[in-house]
Amino acid sequence: MTEEIRTLEWLPDGGVRILDQTRLPGDEVYVECRDAEAVAEAIRNLRIRGAPALGVTAAMGLALGAQRLQASDATSFLRDLKGIADMLARTRPTARNLFWGLERILTVAEKHRDLSLPTLKERLAEEAVKMHEEDLACNRAMGEHGQRLIESGDTILTHCNTGALATVGYGTGLGVIRAAWERGKQIRVLVGETRPVLQGARLTAWELDRLGIPSCLITDSMAGDFMRRGEVQAVIVGADRIALNGDVANKIGTYTLAVLCRHHNLPFYVAAPFSTVDPALAAGTEIPIEERAPQEITSIAGISIAPRGFPAANPAFDVTPAELVTALITDQGVLYPPFAEAIQTLAGSSSATQ
Ligand code: MRU
Repeated sequence: MTEEIRTLEWLPDGGVRILDQTRLPGDEVYVECRDAEAVAEAIRNLRIRGAPALGVTAAMGLALGAQRLQASDATSFLRDLKGIADMLARTRPTARNLFWGLERILTVAEKHRDLSLPTLKERLAEEAVKMHEEDLACNRAMGEHGQRLIESGDTILTHCNTGALATVGYGTGLGVIRAAWERGKQIRVLVGETRPVLQGARLTAWELDRLGIPSCLITDSMAGDFMRRGEVQAVIVGADRIALNGDVANKIGTYTLAVLCRHHNLPFYVAAPFSTVDPALAAGTEIPIEERAPQEITSIAGISIAPRGFPAANPAFDVTPAELVTALITDQGVLYPPFAEAIQTLAGSSSATQ
């Protein structure tokens, strides 16, 4: 069995160890973050990315920041903790999980405010480690539910990176693909390169190569032609935020794939843990979309590919309307349209268990 990738880890001596994804696939290099600011830097600069991974990283960053707080009473401790959470929340706006992770640590801190401050700090570190463990279990559950939708002989097109690197381990969309492969299904994966940051070419291809799953890299613009030729049986992607009506924000290019699937009568599956659902948003139009630097578009690996100063747009995510989603593969099971009622019921019960 392939050894699980160690995307991020809590260091017992007070730190967060992150596999630097900006260096992959060339170098397997780890960064050790010793304060919350270093964790924020790692998130902002995509050393760690992918919605579920961001949820646990933000929680660990906050728990790490808590260890260093010098407050003398619970009120000032909670006020300073909120300040660190606000700083971490400003790193990236779209992935719901990042805010979910911060909220969970803040809720635990509030709930246990009567503990002594050293014990409370320990409790927060324990909670972050618990979230790390839960994410892995959640991805395996998603894999088990989702693999039933895949048949031997299928070629699956995926976008961005939804594997172990985008999570604590195993993956969401790629976890489903991996679960099908581990159960002996003879599948093949088409990996969309995912311009401009190339999460598909750099990260998903690296993971699939390690797992030994038959795969082929294509440019994003090839997707339609491969579908027309009958070379795709399903598309599986992840999600950064899901609204209560089932609209899905995910890596830019996802919406195009969903439209292509509808035209070619192919299933379009979204795999995500329930922490990706935003209980405050009724529809996808309300999801904040990150706009990244134009240089990501006008250059590749530091080499300019456009006229100097030429304007470029760079929204990092798009929103796919629920009507184009065949099924949502979650850790709680597979949901089919109409999604609103099932999402609201499950969102209510998962927030009640926190
Ligand atoms: O900008 P990124 O690399 O953080 O974007 C990641 C994605 O869009 C993923 O598809 C999404 O987070 C799901 S990851 C399991």
